[in-house]
Amino acid sequence: MLKKLDQISKLIGKTPSKQCNSRHINLFAKLEYYNYTGSIKDRAAFNIVKEGVISGDIDRETVIIESSSGNFAIALATLCGDLGIEFIPVIDPNINSAYEQLLRLLCKRVIKVSEIDSTGGYLLTRIATVKAECANYKKSFWTNQYANANNYLSYYKGLGNEICEGFDRLDYLFIGVSSGGTITGVSRRIKEKFPKAKVVAVDVEGSVIFGGKPKKRWVSGIGASMSSTLLKQALIDEVIHISHDQVIESCHSLMKEQNIFAGASSGAVYAAVKNYVANDRIAPEANVLFICPDRGNAYLDTIYNRDWQLMTKEQQLMEYSPL
Ligand SMILES: Cc1ncc(COP(=O)(O)O)c(C=O)c1O
Repeated sequence: MLKKLDQISKLIGKTPSKQCNSRHINLFAKLEYYNYTGSIKDRAAFNIVKEGVISGDIDRETVIIESSSGNFAIALATLCGDLGIEFIPVIDPNINSAYEQLLRLLCKRVIKVSEIDSTGGYLLTRIATVKAECANYKKSFWTNQYANANNYLSYYKGLGNEICEGFDRLDYLFIGVSSGGTITGVSRRIKEKFPKAKVVAVDVEGSVIFGGKPKKRWVSGIGASMSSTLLKQALIDEVIHISHDQVIESCHSLMKEQNIFAGASSGAVYAAVKNYVANDRIAPEANVLFICPDRGNAYLDTIYNRDWQLMTKEQQLMEYSPL
């Protein structure tokens, strides 16, 4: 398996940075959708599995199980397919239908939970299902992206290094947060070379990662309904929360202004950059980098669909109306 992993490693990382249109600052976007399965999560999936193989926790008989409805599940499913081992994603009814279809094509078995947990969501049900399912196999492995240090170490060694190599000076870095793996690894690495660089964590309204009040979230890929132990190691200078309307608007701006067709978290970080620029919080000629974790394809039915935007607003109004 190590030989195969070595081959696959060549398909991950060394993603391009695009110089963006900007009048007063030097703005760059790191296009992580150039990775193997189309997202930043290839880095985490690869490193977690590789370290599991090296330590002997994963071999040909192991069944890998994870609670993920998004890019991490797609990355694991593809990687496990290449290695000839089984991967079982645990998903819930909120999954994007294209992602569910793809996971069902890639995996022999997909578990879709339906029971709402005590927090009103599915996360606790999904985690309990992962644990119960792991116990059903002689050899199983829970990748546990919210607590596995090999998640953030993949970004320390990979993305963080690439950023250090790509810049002589870096003043600002904007990163979207979910499991916290990216920001933890990248912030630790870049502060070694650029101690004065400002790291801005971008989260969305309704996410509890940085202690916000839980609220129904309509965009996927950014935010979380539980906080991550990985973030204790992160070197974050500021946290900024973006509203859902801003995320949607900003994805469209990213396309119009920069010709970048990207997912929700890219829109969120772009909104954060623009917010800083509009408030004169970035000095002229500063070198500013933001990360684009995935492409816009998976969001064509939602963020890039005007009907969905209207529908969610109605639903949000119904949900939060004082009546
Ligand atoms: C599209 C997208 N953006 C951003 C993130 C956040 O990355 P991390 O989990 O490393 O915090 C994820 C994670 O799943 C993602 O899928």
